[in-house]
Amino acid sequence: MMALNLVLMGLPGAGKGTQAEKIIEEFAIPHISTGDIFREAMANETAMGLEAKKFIDKGELVPDDVTVGIVKDRLSQPDTEAGFMLDGFPRTLVQAEALETMLKELNKPLTAVINFDVDPSLLAARLLARGRADDNEETIKNRLEVNIKMNAPLVDFYQAKGLLHTIDGARDIDVVFADTQTILKAL
Ligand code: AP5
Repeated sequence: MMALNLVLMGLPGAGKGTQAEKIIEEFAIPHISTGDIFREAMANETAMGLEAKKFIDKGELVPDDVTVGIVKDRLSQPDTEAGFMLDGFPRTLVQAEALETMLKELNKPLTAVINFDVDPSLLAARLLARGRADDNEETIKNRLEVNIKMNAPLVDFYQAKGLLHTIDGARDIDVVFADTQTILKAL
């Protein structure tokens, strides 16, 4: 079977993590969430975690060179041979271009980019209800602003490559997953 090399895209709270958990129950591929990697590094107080915390606490993006380096290391691991699912990466055009270069070097072409589309007005309430450390009103406002600005060029980038599949993520979680399954099974 062809490797399933996926990117999950969407604004904060769009449901990337929620759908990723469901996807890995059915498609046994590693779930690579840059947000989870940063949170683990922050919990362990590593040098990278302490550096990332400065940005995450303000709702800013962690600098591209740090994030790209982490993803490159992770995608070089042997468990990504049969596929992988990136969640929350790439988030900038610089990251998208770096991903393209590293996947070329690793000979692991992207299969698809799944974009969970949710109107930003719905997202703050979802995030506040979840209540993670970076889910406070001020940080959410900035995270949404920063990500909205970055998201449109990424959508265009993957649309132009014919890789983008956009799903209406404002519906019930299981309905969103049913659409996700349909797309993944057709790949
Ligand atoms: P990250 O952890 O990726 O956070 P995020 O993008 O803000 O995304 P979330 O995890 O908050 O949202 P999600 O789309 O996964 O939604 P979820 O499924 O959890 O990144 C954290 C920080 O790390 C960033 O702010 C940045 O600083 C840094 N970072 C990470 N990657 C980076 C990168 N590439 N470059 C630079 N910096 C980076 O759902 C949210 C809530 O909504 C849950 O409670 C869920 O139950 C609920 N929900 C989900 N789907 C639905 C639905 N359909 N209906 C109703 N509720 C729903």
